Amino acid sequence: MVVGTWVVATVGLYFNAIHEQGMAMIICLPVAVTAWVFGFRGALLAAAVALPLGLGILTLGSLDVGDVLREPSMLVGHVMTALLGLVIGYLSTLRGRLERETQLRAQSERAAVEAEMGAHLARADRLAIMGTLASGVAHEINNPLTYLLSNLEFAQDDLLQLRDAEGVDPKLWERLRIGIDESREAVERIHKITSELQLFVRDHPGTLRFVDMVEALGASIKLARHKLRDGTEVEARLEPVPMVRGDGGKLTQVFVNLLVNAAQAIPEGRGHGRIVVTLGLERVEETSILVTVSDDGQGMSAEVVSKIFEPFFTTKPRGVGTGLGLSVSASIIRNHGGELECDSEPGRGTTFRVRLPTFGDAAVSVTPSEAASPPPNPQPRVAQSLTAVGS
Ligand SMILES: Nc1ncnc2c1ncn2[C@@H]1O[C@H](COP(=O)(O)OP(=O)(O)O)[C@@H](O)[C@H]1O
Ligand SMILES: [Mg+2]
Repeated sequence: MVVGTWVVATVGLYFNAIHEQGMAMIICLPVAVTAWVFGFRGALLAAAVALPLGLGILTLGSLDVGDVLREPSMLVGHVMTALLGLVIGYLSTLRGRLERETQLRAQSERAAVEAEMGAHLARADRLAIMGTLASGVAHEINNPLTYLLSNLEFAQDDLLQLRDAEGVDPKLWERLRIGIDESREAVERIHKITSELQLFVRDHPGTLRFVDMVEALGASIKLARHKLRDGTEVEARLEPVPMVRGDGGKLTQVFVNLLVNAAQAIPEGRGHGRIVVTLGLERVEETSILVTVSDDGQGMSAEVVSKIFEPFFTTKPRGVGTGLGLSVSASIIRNHGGELECDSEPGRGTTFRVRLPTFGDAAVSVTPSEAASPPPNPQPRVAQSLTAVGS
């Protein structure tokens, strides 16, 4: 296009010169186009080329250079052409820079999003593999563990009968007793870990029921109550919601986990603490329910929050935490087609949010016989407020 405009202008100038008109303004066109296409530097070059080229062509026609140069409109025209070219060239350079910057920004944003998604997927994959592996290993360990535990129980009983027998060295007896007691404690701990690990196994469709969330949360609060410290209150604000399709037992386990974590986050000896449990419909999209469990405990740093859903991550002393509660809970909620989120601030407290699809949108598999039976209507309930004080 640029070459074309220069050719047209040259031919135009030549015809002007033949007809002895000397109109040099026609050179405006290629200068402007060159400036627009090649930017500021192109404009400088075009302005520099335009004057000798114009004069040359006019002389090649029949015009006398002296006459042309003496024509005031000729010089004014060239200056104006050059200025116009420079302005256009400047604008074009500016536009190019802006486009490049926007492109670069978009590229780096896309790269950041892709990297984040990649990391997220890799983490999800890793967790899924670990979950499958862990539940398999747990299953294999559980059988020998049951033998070990019952043999240790027999040994404990036998040892008790030996205590007053003749010829038994009391020191030796005591050492044996301590050894067997500690072994039993260790085996029970392994058993606790393996049982929690087995919960990674996916829900079986046969276990799905319609779960009344008010009931499930009430039961969870009762179960968790013995873990509450003195002076810790649990307030439950439970609104009536439609049934959720799932495994009530496992959902209860999730809420107990969240409540026990909340209770353990309230420092011992503080004397007061508050845990609030809410249930309601999701405000934005009313096809899912939202359960929140908030505490005013010690909270967590961003670094801790980023690891809490990893299996075996715990900040609690040995014997108190297994680090499995939240990873198992997240897996259960995922298997119900929901999500588990956490917000926390060090020193202020923590809120866990559980979203679950209500019936009709449940992303869990449904067996044909269950799908055929109509869901029981959710019983309208009066919003319930329940306060439990830790024993
Ligand atoms: N409500 C909470 N407040 C503060 N920290 C929490 C809370 N819930 C969980 N955490 C942190 O997350 C970690 C992992 O929790 P979890 O998976 O339940 O394992 P565990 O309770 O056995 O340590 C805990 O060790 C704790 O550091
Ligand atoms: Mg826990």
